[in-house]
Amino acid sequence: MAKKTVLVSGGAGYIGSHVTVELDAAGYDVVIADNFSNCDRTNYKGVCKITGKELPLIEMDFCDLQAVRKLFDSYKIDAVIHFAAFKAVGESVDDPLKYYVNNLESFLNILQVARDKGCNVLFSSSATVYGEPEKLPVSELSERKPSTSPYGNTKQMCEDFLRDCVKAYPTIKGIALRYFNPIGAHPSALIGELPRGVPNNLVPFITQTAIGKRECLSVFGNDYPTPDGTCLRDFIDIVDLAKAHVFAVTRMVEGKMEENYEIFNIGTGRPVSVMELITTFEKVNNLKLNYKIAPRRPGDVMSVWCDPTIGEKKLGWKAQRTLEETLASAWAWEKYLAGKK
Ligand code: NAD
Ligand code: UD1
Repeated sequence: MAKKTVLVSGGAGYIGSHVTVELDAAGYDVVIADNFSNCDRTNYKGVCKITGKELPLIEMDFCDLQAVRKLFDSYKIDAVIHFAAFKAVGESVDDPLKYYVNNLESFLNILQVARDKGCNVLFSSSATVYGEPEKLPVSELSERKPSTSPYGNTKQMCEDFLRDCVKAYPTIKGIALRYFNPIGAHPSALIGELPRGVPNNLVPFITQTAIGKRECLSVFGNDYPTPDGTCLRDFIDIVDLAKAHVFAVTRMVEGKMEENYEIFNIGTGRPVSVMELITTFEKVNNLKLNYKIAPRRPGDVMSVWCDPTIGEKKLGWKAQRTLEETLASAWAWEKYLAGKK
């Protein structure tokens, strides 16, 4: 069978770079496109080293409809995975238009061109659509909650755009993957998360504290009604998460979807507390982390983890790497970055 081509929008970023590596390993041709608004070329260079290929990289903005059309005219794209979006929750509250314009326009452009060309669409959604769930774990059948941030709104709106377009236009099929908390780095330590400025997310803050870039990690609240008082999350290894995309793309391009629009949770199904994550990080990497208990962070959900069984059954995918392996990879990546400076 002829090789299929996958366009990875935002492919120079954290998740996109890991997905590119797994798509290449699975025999797909990959075209990467990014405007470098939230990354540099570190991950792209790492991807080329891991794959041993100079993969096509197009510098472009997905908010530019003509540029998107030109891209689809230049390559025969069988599926597009859409990562190109802004993702900082707090910033989206301060500057909602930045988020609405970038995250919605870029996806609307992709949908229009995908409809015209006949192309499968995979959208990167988030557990944020479940808000503070009434019942845990959450399954794909759990209800979505009104969003607490413009970022979360863009995820809900883009899911709806995809659902409606798939229903109306027979030329496209779509899958939305709802990620829980992606963490860690590739085992080669050549690609990983590169947050700009002070990290908002837990694991980059931990690794930057351990390396001495940050003085002290604040644990946001230890008075939640959870087993150890800290929040519970479903931390999913980045390589496992990346592999889920290969299964989803294959399901689309091989015509194996049961419905033309499908949603899958991508998580482990195992709740881990913030404190448990910290102590595991210390243990596996044999170090002591400087941390303090701080007030709860406004807007935080207390507990969220998923029931991954629908995805496991239908995609044939299951998270494999242990939390220990993942946290060792996150630390190896931070040390690799420190060595580069
Ligand atoms: P990232 O910032 O590392 O990657 C996104 C990439 O898209 C960046 O390289 C950025 O330069 C690029 N980009 C942004 N707007 C663009 C535009 N208009 N045109 C072209 N390129 C553009 O983020 P990530 O962590 O890899 O996240 C990828 C996607 O997954 C995002 O849509 C994010 O909302 C979603 N997601 C991420 C997480 C997470 O924890 N990382 C969780 C749930 C969902
Ligand atoms: C956040 C976003 C979510 C987004 C995801 C990926 C919010 C409310 N949610 O998820 O929409 O999809 O990032 O970008 O912002 N923590 C600390 N100290 C820190 C950082 C975090 O204790 O310095 C705690 C938090 O309180 C939380 C847990 O660690 O309990 C995980 O936080 P984080 O990594 O920011 O992810 P989420 O908040 O789950």
